[in-house]
Amino acid sequence: MSRIVVTGGAGRLGRSLVAGLADAGHELVSLDRAVSDAGELQGVEQIAVDLTDTDAATRAISDARADALIHLAAIAVPFSAPEEVILRTNAAMALGVLSAGVAAGIPRIVTASSPTVLGYGAPTGWLPERLPLDETTPAKPWNAYALSKLLAEQTIAMLARQTGDSTRFAAFRPCYVIAPEEWRGALTQQGHTVRERLDDPALSAPALFNYVDARDVATFIDTLLLALPEIPNAEVFFVGADDALARRPLAELLPRFVPGTEGLAAGLTGSAPAFSNAKARRVLGWRPVHTWRGELGEAAPETSSFPDPARKDVLA
Ligand SMILES: NC(=O)c1ccc[n+]([C@@H]2O[C@H](COP(=O)([O-])OP(=O)(O)OC[C@H]3O[C@@H](n4cnc5c(N)ncnc54)[C@H](O)[C@@H]3O)[C@@H](O)[C@H]2O)c1
Repeated sequence: MSRIVVTGGAGRLGRSLVAGLADAGHELVSLDRAVSDAGELQGVEQIAVDLTDTDAATRAISDARADALIHLAAIAVPFSAPEEVILRTNAAMALGVLSAGVAAGIPRIVTASSPTVLGYGAPTGWLPERLPLDETTPAKPWNAYALSKLLAEQTIAMLARQTGDSTRFAAFRPCYVIAPEEWRGALTQQGHTVRERLDDPALSAPALFNYVDARDVATFIDTLLLALPEIPNAEVFFVGADDALARRPLAELLPRFVPGTEGLAAGLTGSAPAFSNAKARRVLGWRPVHTWRGELGEAAPETSSFPDPARKDVLA
């Protein structure tokens, strides 16, 4: 059993994460500006603190007497505040919180990054060298949110250079997080239901149809914390579902929304996602267990019933 401090524990992902880690037998302390009254947080110690106040953050993290720190707190939606505010808030908070973890002697420190660091959706265009995307795909952030997440990754790499392997770090890039209540119809982060995102591919296309069940993020973190002392320091992991959040194969959908991906996406047949979770499987032995079809009770179509992606006439 670990004692784990989670920043942003009252947020969308944080609530499911603390609930999942508490279920797995850990002691949890949530540090957040907000104190959640959500039932999931029962039994979790919640402390209200503004983590942009570095002194207050440092005190709260030290007082938590934790042996692991998961940093989620952030302005979590691109363009939801002025660009300069997002960059300053997220980058400074990551530096303050993660450094406070080191100063408190917490041996395992993890920060939340984002797939958006890759730069898809850039107004000037974006094309990867290959699909599926993975941790070797170059980061090319095009907005302050994505840049702040890349800085958070770089902050753990920087701290690892300062401390050596006595502190173990990692960053993870959760795909579009879907919490249990969102499968039941609650609105997802962008204000649509999951079914609306599936019915209209244009809604999921900006995230390249990626998603992950919040409970799978909790098992990922549990597995990662256990493995941290044994794996290389300051690694970055994508955390995504085994399939795409789409009713049609991405070989068909991606070229419609990301011009130029016709050839690159040809291998994404059936339900294959655009983001690979192979590194987390290989290095940690983690795998997600939730799929949108399982949660919504929709059967997967026969692969052979998908039209040939090369036949553009059936795709309009
Ligand atoms: N939800 C997703 O799909 C997704 C995808 C990729 C990455 N992420 C990352 O995961 C993390 C959590 O995302 P989320 O969707 O749960 O966001 P969220 O906005 O629901 O939660 C963020 C939490 O951080 C807290 N917070 C913000 N500023 C704070 C401050 N100054 N002091 C104390 N607490 C503060 C908020 O009160 C909130 O509870 C973020 O770092 C986000 O960038 C989320």
